[in-house]
Amino acid sequence: MVIISDDKKLGIRGKDSVTNTVRNPNIKAESIEYDKTFENSIRPKDFDSYIGQCELKETLKIILEAAKKREKPLDHMLFYGPPGLGKTTIAGVIASQMGVDIKITSAPALERPRDIIGILMSLKGGEILFIDEIHRLNKVAEEILYPAMEDFTIDMTTGKSQTAKTLRISIPKFTLIGATTKAGELSSPLRDRFGMMHRLEFYTVDELSSVVKRTAKILDVDITEEGAKAIAKRSRGTPRIANRLVKRVSDFAIVKYDGKIDDIVANESLDILKIDEFGLDTTDRALLNLIINKYDGGPVGVETIAAALSEDVRTIEDVCEPYLLQAGLLQRTPRGRKVSPEGYRHLGLKIPSEQKSLFE
Ligand code: ADE
Repeated sequence: MVIISDDKKLGIRGKDSVTNTVRNPNIKAESIEYDKTFENSIRPKDFDSYIGQCELKETLKIILEAAKKREKPLDHMLFYGPPGLGKTTIAGVIASQMGVDIKITSAPALERPRDIIGILMSLKGGEILFIDEIHRLNKVAEEILYPAMEDFTIDMTTGKSQTAKTLRISIPKFTLIGATTKAGELSSPLRDRFGMMHRLEFYTVDELSSVVKRTAKILDVDITEEGAKAIAKRSRGTPRIANRLVKRVSDFAIVKYDGKIDDIVANESLDILKIDEFGLDTTDRALLNLIINKYDGGPVGVETIAAALSEDVRTIEDVCEPYLLQAGLLQRTPRGRKVSPEGYRHLGLKIPSEQKSLFE
């Protein structure tokens, strides 16, 4: 497969305005960004090598087989859940299993009407259009998408005011796969046009161990079962993090040891990288410490937290919080975020008596 970057204006972490076409059957990355290249090079291409999300895989296998038998394109699908759980990856697997190309873009890259019209008009029959961060699509782009998703048509206006004419253009039948970390922010008309919606779940330690071993094998890195598990435990239930840690730990193993990763090498290098046994990094711990030390454990608003940590609200909400909430270290209340007794315990701090009586 070949990844063609149509637009090299790289936004936040190289993500915002990149549009790629991934052609079957082999992927070769034409350098978009180092991390993306690494991620693309290790992406599984079939259901067997895609680890975890078993329920989703079983459902998809049926949907794909039915679509093939009917010789019809797949229904539009929406995948949601925290970042790094494999939403883009599963879209790639679907394309590869259907034997079709996938065009990958993200909502911030579809700022002007011509961006979305251009990409819709470039699609061929059966192709998949993947729109990441679809909750960030603007109203105009959304309204262009509605008839495209429903009737495979685009309504285009030419001319101005009195001389304006609307042209209806047919486009080939395609499948839209949307991905979002915030399904709740999708407008209901857009949400209603997806034939299938699925939430991706955090991975278990066993599943992440398998991801780690698979990546180590691709990178030709020697790793023991215990080494894989040690990395998996600190990967916050997220394969993207597990894959990055394999690389970091393997650098450490090459420089400091004989290149082989066992649990001692993994734990020592992750300690040096300041990733604790829960997988929390410096920012996560700073967030919990801030709420405890400055706001008596909370509740405190996310804007205040973001400003105090010099992070943007979106990073706090989309990257830090999902795992802290899932791990039970942080709680969301109507008045803001609160550190749970578990959060205090994790940082080795005494639980204040008020919190104790509330939770025990
Ligand atoms: N890399 C990222 N997500 C993955 C998954 N679910 N299985 C295998 N490798 C992956």
